[in-house]
Amino acid sequence: MNHEVLERILEGRENPTNLSLSLLKDITENFSEDREIGHGGFATVYKGVLPNGNVAVKRIKSSHSIKETLFYREVDSLLNIEHKNVVRFLGFCASTDQIAIKIEGSKERIYAEVRERLLCFEYISNGSLRKYITDELRGLEWNTRYEIIRGVCEGLCHLHKEKQIYHMDMKPDNILLDNDMVPKITDFGLSRLDEMTQTMSKDRLGSLGYCAPEYWSQGKMSFKSDMYSLGVIIIELVTGQKALPINNNKVLRRWRHRWRKTGKETELVYQQVAKCIEIGLLCQEIDPSGRPFIWDIIDDIRQAEGVNGSIRNDSEYKFGQASSYAPLDVLVSYRLLSLVVFLCYTQWWSYSPASLGSCLGSGVDPQFNPLH
Ligand SMILES: Nc1ncnc2c1ncn2[C@@H]1O[C@H](COP(=O)(O)OP(=O)(O)O)[C@@H](O)[C@H]1O
Ligand SMILES: [Mg+2]
Repeated sequence: MNHEVLERILEGRENPTNLSLSLLKDITENFSEDREIGHGGFATVYKGVLPNGNVAVKRIKSSHSIKETLFYREVDSLLNIEHKNVVRFLGFCASTDQIAIKIEGSKERIYAEVRERLLCFEYISNGSLRKYITDELRGLEWNTRYEIIRGVCEGLCHLHKEKQIYHMDMKPDNILLDNDMVPKITDFGLSRLDEMTQTMSKDRLGSLGYCAPEYWSQGKMSFKSDMYSLGVIIIELVTGQKALPINNNKVLRRWRHRWRKTGKETELVYQQVAKCIEIGLLCQEIDPSGRPFIWDIIDDIRQAEGVNGSIRNDSEYKFGQASSYAPLDVLVSYRLLSLVVFLCYTQWWSYSPASLGSCLGSGVDPQFNPLH
């Protein structure tokens, strides 16, 4: 079996291309159960082993319901993406075979079409972010969490700003972590195929708490629906929970408890936690136009870090206007009001419980002094 093409692509010496089904079967031991590394609503993912490293082979489940043109459109977009926070695409396979099936008790045969649609990516060894979500007192240290949040924002900025791609299924399961805990966004674009060909399947229920209300209720997709999901992820990474905390000071106190035990307490880490809560809350605005764009967030993070990265675009939203503490109370009240208006307008009472819960959250007390 000729593995060399894929080995060269993996080493970055050749561009991603179409790969043969026999090659992908061979490196995954014929898609054996032992090689299964994950599955979602849409595909089963296998580990492929090559002499110079590993790859992930994503075998799309309902290949029959996927329109050919959409599959190739997605492959096209994957082929053009190169960013340290987006999983690297290595190649694809679209094969259609005819197989003959004997009819029992008859000499006749029927012929069936077997379609395989596969995508191949670099293998990301530490699995998805899902398994690292914990509360403030255990699990990943603050610095690691902060770097993950920053990396996810950079990756999403690349998709939105450079490629004009909506992800549409941002959640911890679709963020993978490499050996150095660098986050890599995966499973984008194809989720749109899924929505076009299927109704919300049981497997997709896992995405519910991350879905923007306008997408959930009216199917409206935009950059801003990704921003809503990003907001939920950020809050979950900071606190371990999707819902915004009832009292944000409690979050800071819990982090303080951990930092004091490990001697890692600085003013900077308090500012970072407060900034992340602020961003997470703003991203979950009910009205999409009130949410920031991803470049607003990148700009704001860079400014907070003293880096002169001027990537701000004109937008209806000026993120930097909100300071870390006092305005949160105002924002939460505004948000609660907009949710009520939204619910009355749509008469849609089965709204995501995570967001309902989060609307009850309050901002950080302006009097809270983290260092005491
Ligand atoms: N490149 C990869 N490296 C390692 N594991 C992966 C990779 N891609 C996917 N996985 C694993 O498979 C799971 C499902 O993959 P994903 O692309 O999200 O498929 P689905 O569309 O079915 O949700 C991920 O949550 C992850 O655990
Ligand atoms: Mg997925």
